[in-house]
Amino acid sequence: MFRSLLTSTKLCCLLLSTTAQTKYIVPGARWRDTEGNLVNAHAGSVVLNQGTFWLFGEHKTEGQEEGGGVSVYSSTDLATWESHGLALKPIDGHPYISPSMIIQRPKVVYSFASSDEIQGPYGFVNATAPLGNWSQDFGLFTDWKDGRSYALYSNGDSKEGRDVYLASYNQEVSALDEVVHRFDKYDLEAPTIIQTEKSYYALMSHKTGYRPNNVVAFRADSLSGPWSQPWIVAPLNTRTFNSQSGFTLRIQGTNRTTYLYLGDQWDSNSLWESRYIWLPIEIDDRKRTLEVKWHDVYDLQVQTGEWSTVKGQTYGQQNATTSGNAFKQEANFADDGTILTGIYGNDSTVTFHEIEGTGKPQWVSFYYQNADDMGFGDQRGAWQLRRISSVVVNGDTENVETLYQRDTHKGIILSTPLQLTLKKGRQNTITVGGLFNGFDYKGADLEKIVVYPPEE
Ligand SMILES: *[C@@H]1O[C@H](CO)[C@@H](O)[C@H](O)[C@H]1NC(C)=O
Ligand SMILES: *[C@@H]1O[C@H](CO)[C@@H](O)[C@H](O)[C@H]1NC(C)=O
Ligand SMILES: *[C@@H]1O[C@H](CO)[C@@H](O)[C@H](O)[C@H]1NC(C)=O
Ligand SMILES: *[C@@H]1O[C@H](CO)[C@@H](O)[C@H](O)[C@H]1NC(C)=O
Ligand SMILES: *[C@@H]1O[C@H](CO)[C@@H](O)[C@H](O)[C@H]1NC(C)=O
Repeated sequence: MFRSLLTSTKLCCLLLSTTAQTKYIVPGARWRDTEGNLVNAHAGSVVLNQGTFWLFGEHKTEGQEEGGGVSVYSSTDLATWESHGLALKPIDGHPYISPSMIIQRPKVVYSFASSDEIQGPYGFVNATAPLGNWSQDFGLFTDWKDGRSYALYSNGDSKEGRDVYLASYNQEVSALDEVVHRFDKYDLEAPTIIQTEKSYYALMSHKTGYRPNNVVAFRADSLSGPWSQPWIVAPLNTRTFNSQSGFTLRIQGTNRTTYLYLGDQWDSNSLWESRYIWLPIEIDDRKRTLEVKWHDVYDLQVQTGEWSTVKGQTYGQQNATTSGNAFKQEANFADDGTILTGIYGNDSTVTFHEIEGTGKPQWVSFYYQNADDMGFGDQRGAWQLRRISSVVVNGDTENVETLYQRDTHKGIILSTPLQLTLKKGRQNTITVGGLFNGFDYKGADLEKIVVYPPEE
């Protein structure tokens, strides 16, 4: 189960598709492919080949914990994804890639072997324990200055383990050469490296299973070190906006270079529905800092490398009414000094009024607090990963949307998006209630909603 597998490809003649449509990147949304299915490529990695981005990841099967092979998707804008099925299919009875095994954190790199076309199909070549050592949570990094590839892996949870290794591959990327650096005893996993002109930054998460935690980064001038002390990359107690590190992507545009954090938002209640938190990374090489900041909706131009946040219209407490036992409660950490709480079932609801719509699908971000962490704090994460709210537009209870609201922390507000179609004009309402989550009908506390303009 904790075995890493490296698949390799020979690149060849791919046609570029040119789409001029603007699509936004919406972290934490249900991402759908061009056929309308959920994008199912978890703990993935992205390879750029002749203007097309290829996303490879773990294919999770509904209702099943075990592996479903490696899926592959293509995109020219990192927002529109076309499925190409499985790049590597599980094989019954196989010692390493049988359907009962998770091919964890798959990566693809240009090399000697295995498939003529980047989307596969790939054949199984070999499985190795790197330099004879135990490995888990495989990461792969290719230095863009010299083309050399490196493996990153943790050597387990045993007393002798708890390190993360950075080891170089041979020129053919067929076997590891040597350990270049050992991140000693930090007890971290899900490693990835991003390279700027001047620095290398290694990002890793703590080990809390599928529960998110505060991802950290280290910096160095050279891969062999010396590496800096680690620091936390996102606002404290947001648990990296409810995500785990795993991959990073450098986009060298004509106007600027942008770095993306490609995190996983695991849903341990339903792994195949896990979401993706992809966010721009802000790096200042002079100050030697790296930060991941939240954006509900952003617009990335992969050709120029430029990105901008999309501006939305905010509807706060003054624009909301409550029914039943829902009420406004003092909360000094919330925008208006109050938060909407007691949301439960279908009769204790919150309704936002006079919302302006366009008649087209629009992203709406719900800012919420779910303080179910029950005092276990950051180390253990929560016992319950989400509350579920119902969202109804203009009283149309025939069409109830479900909003998953994962735990935050007390006083920590995060947002989670839904795509809704509002009527053109200012007369729309959005009503939020509570749905059953396996324990209760409670919705999370709400601070506000933000309605974004439609994609063009
Ligand atoms: C597979 O890897 C093992 C361990 O590195 C090596 O000994 C063996 O020769 C490899 N087999 C093939 C078919 O490449
Ligand atoms: C394998 O792991 C052990 C324990 O961390 C370490 O002492 C040893 O140096 C590692 N071997 C190699 C070749 O890196
Ligand atoms: C590149 O940036 C320059 C200066 O900010 C701007 O004038 C130009 O329009 C940009 N080019 C593209 C293709 O976005
Ligand atoms: C929200 O309500 C306040 C107070 O009634 C009002 O001034 C404001 O315009 C409303 N905001 C929106 C976006 O409708
Ligand atoms: C919500 O409404 C449905 C249908 O009216 C009802 O069956 C259900 O029990 C209600 N749930 C709660 C928690 O109030």
